[in-house]
Amino acid sequence: MTVKLTFVAHDGGEHEVSADVGQSVMEAALSNGVEGITAECNGSAACATCHAIFDEALLVHMPEITEHENDMLDFAATERVAGSRLSCQIPVTDAFNGARIMLPEEQ
Ligand code: FES
Repeated sequence: MTVKLTFVAHDGGEHEVSADVGQSVMEAALSNGVEGITAECNGSAACATCHAIFDEALLVHMPEITEHENDMLDFAATERVAGSRLSCQIPVTDAFNGARIMLPEEQ
């Protein structure tokens, strides 16, 4: 099962991808060549270079933020905002179909 996600870069450029349900949002970005997600630690929640900003309506479809993820977001290169998460910690579900995911200015 796949869903459509649209990554929106800081400059407004859009990149629509097909993502597999169950993979992380970070993996969906990387496997589709989306620029703006670096993922230096490869999904271990240890680098904060997979920072992405989600619509608040989607937050209920995500795992609750852990204390560790919350701490790591404080180290993100672009200051966190409401809706900021580490995209490696967010599994794609059906609820993400059609989602627009904003990318920060810097990772
Ligand atoms: S890939 Fe490093 S924190 Fe997500």
